[in-house]
Amino acid sequence: MELADACQFKVDYAKCVACGECAADCVAEIISPRGDGKPEIAPDQLANGIGCQHCLTICPTGAASALGLDPAKSLPLDGADFAPGSLDLLIRGRRSIRRFSREPVPKKLIRELLAAAAHAPTGVNAMRRRFTVIADPCAMDRFRETTMSAILAAEKRGPLPEVWDWLPDSAREWRKSGKDEVFRNAPHLLAVSAHRDSPCPQPDGLIAMSYFDLLAQSRGVGTVWGGMPYAIVETIAPELRGRLELPEDHILAYIMMFGFPAARHRRTAQRLPEDVHWLER
Ligand SMILES: Cc1cc2nc3c(=O)[nH]c(=O)nc-3n(C[C@H](O)[C@H](O)[C@H](O)COP(=O)(O)O)c2cc1C
Repeated sequence: MELADACQFKVDYAKCVACGECAADCVAEIISPRGDGKPEIAPDQLANGIGCQHCLTICPTGAASALGLDPAKSLPLDGADFAPGSLDLLIRGRRSIRRFSREPVPKKLIRELLAAAAHAPTGVNAMRRRFTVIADPCAMDRFRETTMSAILAAEKRGPLPEVWDWLPDSAREWRKSGKDEVFRNAPHLLAVSAHRDSPCPQPDGLIAMSYFDLLAQSRGVGTVWGGMPYAIVETIAPELRGRLELPEDHILAYIMMFGFPAARHRRTAQRLPEDVHWLER
């Protein structure tokens, strides 16, 4: 997005009731009232918008628009029921899935999950994230093979860091028996990366991945965070970045595996109380 296009603020003045909400909610503070109290942005201020669409989403009459978008195409929130109990149960009931069905998750469903996850916030609304998806289980098999080979190649180059020194044995075990401790035999993989020049690349990616995690579980798709694949790409076999076609100027935020679960959890875990410190002075 060009900076000059960052806003494209438009108002349907026939619909506008001059309530001032768009100006009050504008983080860039660039919306000001005209003589009749209805909003406008001075042309020299347009480039200071961050494209967040707060003006579009807060307008009570659907008069304000940004980025050339039609407010009528947004999902209405008035009267929406977020079913807090369901969301709470979803969070409490989410488990890491380590036994996956081979049945592929339809690409349409993956697209829907990513489209919703793309609503995750990014620092300064940078939105310079990329979702890299392995949607074809056969492509995932190829990536698994490449990764295992890369682990064994890394071992030949020299000893691996102590925390990962068991990985070559694990790769050999996968070759022998098919037991896959790295990807848990998942049929799909999601890697989220973000441009290194964006204000908060790692959090931007991790937040989107957390959203994807919960959305996936709400649609019957299981996930497991890929700490091992992440470490392998980041520290053991960085050549895998190229295999994932990650842009060179991107920071890899994290990796997640997903697919339909081959097992079902029947109840929530019972967590120990969190360490909460109430700072009151
Ligand atoms: C950052 C992170 C990395 C993880 N990496 C792996 C991994 O590589 N392999 C795996 O099987 N589980 C991995 N996990 C899953 C954790 O082991 C799991 O979340 C934890 O045991 C709690 O279980 P639950 O997710 O089922 O509630 C990871 C979790 C997180 C948050």
